[in-house]
Amino acid sequence: MQNLKVGIIGGGFMARTHTAAARAAGAEVVGLASSSPERSAAAAAPLGLEPAAGVEELISRSDVVHVCSPNARHGEHVRAALQAGRHVVCEKPLAVDAEEAAALTALAEEAGVVASVPFVYRFHPMVRQAREETASGRIGRLLTVRGAYLQDWLLDAGESNWRVDPQVSGRSRAFGDIGSHLVDLLEFVSGERIVRLSAATTIAHPRRGGVEVVTEDAAALTVELSGGALGSLMVSQVNAGRKNQLTLELAGADGSVFFDQEHPDELWLGRTDGSVTISRDPATMGQDASRLSVVPSGHPMGYLDAFTAFARDTYARIGGEHPPGLPTFADGVRANCIIDAVLASAESGAWVDVAPVGEPAGVTVPVP
Ligand SMILES: NC(=O)c1ccc[n+]([C@@H]2O[C@H](COP(=O)([O-])OP(=O)(O)OC[C@H]3O[C@@H](n4cnc5c(N)ncnc54)[C@H](O)[C@@H]3O)[C@@H](O)[C@H]2O)c1
Repeated sequence: MQNLKVGIIGGGFMARTHTAAARAAGAEVVGLASSSPERSAAAAAPLGLEPAAGVEELISRSDVVHVCSPNARHGEHVRAALQAGRHVVCEKPLAVDAEEAAALTALAEEAGVVASVPFVYRFHPMVRQAREETASGRIGRLLTVRGAYLQDWLLDAGESNWRVDPQVSGRSRAFGDIGSHLVDLLEFVSGERIVRLSAATTIAHPRRGGVEVVTEDAAALTVELSGGALGSLMVSQVNAGRKNQLTLELAGADGSVFFDQEHPDELWLGRTDGSVTISRDPATMGQDASRLSVVPSGHPMGYLDAFTAFARDTYARIGGEHPPGLPTFADGVRANCIIDAVLASAESGAWVDVAPVGEPAGVTVPVP
């Protein structure tokens, strides 16, 4: 959709990424507001943007507000944008817990605006192809799943960031930060829900920069899906050598699919009588995968393309279209419900039912 005016809140990695994606999707980025006038000016200049006088002023001249601030600030920024009647894109995790995420979703519904969350890995064409392989029944009844999201940027005890402070990041760190992407991808590709889970978490370094660490560096989960399949998920930000390895394998009665976001133009199709790795090719892919495949096969696509496709679909929704697979605030609530369930299980040592959207997690059930 052309001529939409986009305002960016935040001045870091995501501010840069959202600016590029919004522009590539045809919007005009009208300004940026970070945590202080000095930071706004410093972040805006290399992007060729106007620094805003503040968040309110930025919102007043935007049609769509992209919230790219630290997690605990999302709530205040989303509320300000919704009170002004603006469409909102809010980074994951949508909120610091499911209760706040559900409240923001209710406000967005009342405001009657489009409200989306950049679970951008959904926008790789081969993820849509994996979804089609599953939904079409080609892999058969789902039996097991395995997934991982592994990084190493917090392996050094001297490394720190706002994400380590629960006042700014929320009560979950590694799982909230990247596990949220993994469970969204799992539910999106499988078409099923995680109904209950058992989780354990670990802290690699008790102190960082002289400050006590209280949030997890890694989490390991066993999950049960709505169709009865069992799964195993690993999330870590202290896995040496792994930079951003998000992998997902669904194994069904008739075949498997495997996706690795560090090789996003490929999909492995497993069969007992011969497995193949297929490459992105609109000539052989399904309709939705082809829709997102914006350059000919053999010309690599990646993370920024996925972000652009997310922005394009958000703006198309604002324009009254209904592109499939747009992650909305309801999906943000869903991820927050699973994060809450992971914390509840890690604290209690018990299996925890994952609450339906909008209900708080924490109902423990006996270990089977
Ligand atoms: N969807 C994705 O793939 C993805 C990837 C990375 C980060 N994220 C999410 O994006 C958000 C931002 O992460 P990031 O990697 O850009 O972090 P970052 O540290 O690079 O940037 C955060 C920015 O927010 C600014 N900020 C702090 N307090 C603020 C306030 N009160 N008002 C306005 N700005 C404020 C900081 O000055 C900084 O410029 C987080 O919620 C994170 O979870 C999403």
